[in-house]
Amino acid sequence: PAPAPSEVDVFSGPHSRMKRLVQLYSEKLSEVDLSSCSDLRSLLWILKATFSEFKTHEHIENECIMWRLKNRLQFLKVEIAAVSEVHSDNKLSEMVQLVEDACCQADKCTCPKQAAQIGHNLILALRNFTEDFLPHMQEEEEIFQPLLMEYFSYNELKEIKSNVIEKHQKL
Ligand code: FEO
Repeated sequence: PAPAPSEVDVFSGPHSRMKRLVQLYSEKLSEVDLSSCSDLRSLLWILKATFSEFKTHEHIENECIMWRLKNRLQFLKVEIAAVSEVHSDNKLSEMVQLVEDACCQADKCTCPKQAAQIGHNLILALRNFTEDFLPHMQEEEEIFQPLLMEYFSYNELKEIKSNVIEKHQKL
């Protein structure tokens, strides 16, 4: 689909930030020494902040966009599976929990073998998460944005976008 005009494009701005965060932790992963407890702790600091931001991003989208879209479709008696299922799989919550657990383990970590084990599990989970998260954002931009354009007026979308941006700026 043709890109939405910038003033009603509700996803691209926040997604640039989320993609930058993915890039930052991916870079960090490529240079981390998995057998070092202090490297592991510094990676976990980044991940803790990153996943808290991802979680808030999802919350803002639910509150400002998805619930409004669901209500509008319900009112019009239109059923679209992608809309009912968006954010329903809890991979993000699982990842937040995993990072929390890894932080607790890393606090007590003193041996390289244990750090490597925690780091290894974390990297696998992160790869798995990222493989879903990037296409998820793409789906929002390519499928949800056109849906919004179809079911909301231009002025409504301007208002939605301004809410979305304002809430992200408070992060
Ligand atoms: Fe924009 Fe649902 O992540």
